[in-house]
Formats: sequence, structure tokens, C-alpha cells
Amino acid sequence: MDTLAGLHTYRAGTDAPPLVLLHGFPYDHRMWDEVAAALPGTHPVLGVDLPGTPGHATGLPDPSLEVSADVVADLLRGAGVDRAVVAGLSMGGYVALALLERHPRLVAGLALVDTRSTPDTQAAYANRLRVADEVERAGTVDAVRGGVAAVLAPSTPLGRPEVVATVTSWVEEQPPTGVAWAQRAMAARPDRTAVLATFDGPSVVVVGAEDALTPVEEAEHMVAASQHGRLVVVPGAGHLSSVEQSADVAEALADLVARVQR
Ligand code: MLT
Repeated sequence: MDTLAGLHTYRAGTDAPPLVLLHGFPYDHRMWDEVAAALPGTHPVLGVDLPGTPGHATGLPDPSLEVSADVVADLLRGAGVDRAVVAGLSMGGYVALALLERHPRLVAGLALVDTRSTPDTQAAYANRLRVADEVERAGTVDAVRGGVAAVLAPSTPLGRPEVVATVTSWVEEQPPTGVAWAQRAMAARPDRTAVLATFDGPSVVVVGAEDALTPVEEAEHMVAASQHGRLVVVPGAGHLSSVEQSADVAEALADLVARVQR
């Protein structure tokens, strides 16, 4: 059986709870590279390649984000981490909330980026299962490759076409079996708004001002549910704010880390 997930060390260090970055779908930790580079050099930073990514797409149990959360917890504990500031973008945010539910003591701070705490609509659920079947049947990621430009702010592909090319290349490197697994795992997720409401540590909700997939209203819903949540709306970003406006996202995460350390 392959390892179910992998840890990428952006910056080592053991003195403080690391910032742990969980990526969206269908990408991997590289979607956080520019954010990690823009963070102040005072803090350990780890990226996780979640189940379904290259090298972690065979030998997987039945699809569920609980599996993803458990393997993140195992990876962190295996690395000697028992407290972390957890930041998840979109699918990574779903995993962060599952981690909070299943391993609450691991979470010292929480950043939910371009994500939602609510489950899929019936239509979105059915579409995910259709896409998972299609990707598996075709043995390619064609069914998800074309969606990149559509999830970005309109100004991103117009002004920076290289962003579309880079993100598309990440999608093309994802294994079809892993893409199908992650789609089915996301389809099965419950509403975790009540889980978010239990968290009494510092949190921030970050959203691209032009995020059409998980729009500002979803972010406001999560802030309203949070005990100590702040809202950061990132101008000039759509659904992939960590890629589109990395400096703004890094600033929001640095502020969260500082609040955890206080
Ligand atoms: C993501 O970016 O992770 C996806 O948009 C999540 C989803 O499909 O719900």
C-alpha cells in the first residue's frame, strides 16, 4: 500500500506550532508555494499532499474526508507535531473542519480559505459522482482539466495567462484514480458548521472577492458561526486566492499565527 499522504517542509523548526497548509482539488501542496515564500521567516511551515495526489492514490480506503483528516493527523503526530495552525483552501478547508471534529486538540488556529462549511447541494453531489465515474472510465483528468480559468477571477487569465498554464499543469499531473477518490470523498461530507462553532481558538476566513464557487456569503456564514473568526476578503482573486493573490493570503495567515502565539 502506498503512503496515503505526504508532508512537504517549507520551513523547518520545532519551537512553535507549525502552520500546516492543506490544498484544494484537484491540485497538491504547490498551490501554497507562493504563500509559503511570502510568509515571515519566523515560523515552521508544512504543506500536505492529501490522499489522491501523485504517490498517494492507490491503496486508499473508501472515499471520505474523515480518512484525509486522519492521515493528516497521523502525519503530523509522526513528525512530532501535537499542535498546529491549520489552513485549508476549498477541499483543504473541508479537511481542516474534519480534522477539527476528529482531532480537536491538534488545532491551535484555523484558516478557512475559499471554502464552505456546508455540504453539497443535490445537484453538486450528483455532478461530483458523475465526474468521478467519468474520470475513472476515461483514465484521464480531462473532465476536470478545463475548469481552471473558470474558477479564477476574470482578471487573472486576462492579465496573467501563465497562472492558468501553471495550475492546469498541476491538474494534469493528478492521478485519475485519486481525482475520482477525492470527488467521492467531498460528495460524502456533512455540514460541519456546528463543528466550526465549537472551536474557541483564533480563526480567520479568507475569500477571494470574486470567488464564484465558494462566494463571500459562504465566508460570512462561517465567520458568523465562529467564536473568534475574522473575515478577510481578497481583492483581485477568485477561488484560488493562494495562487492569485499570494501576498494578501500570506498576510492573513501571518496575522493568524501571531494571534495564536499571543
Ligand atoms: C477545490 O478547489 O478544492 C474545489 O473547488 C472543492 C470543491 O469541488 O468543492
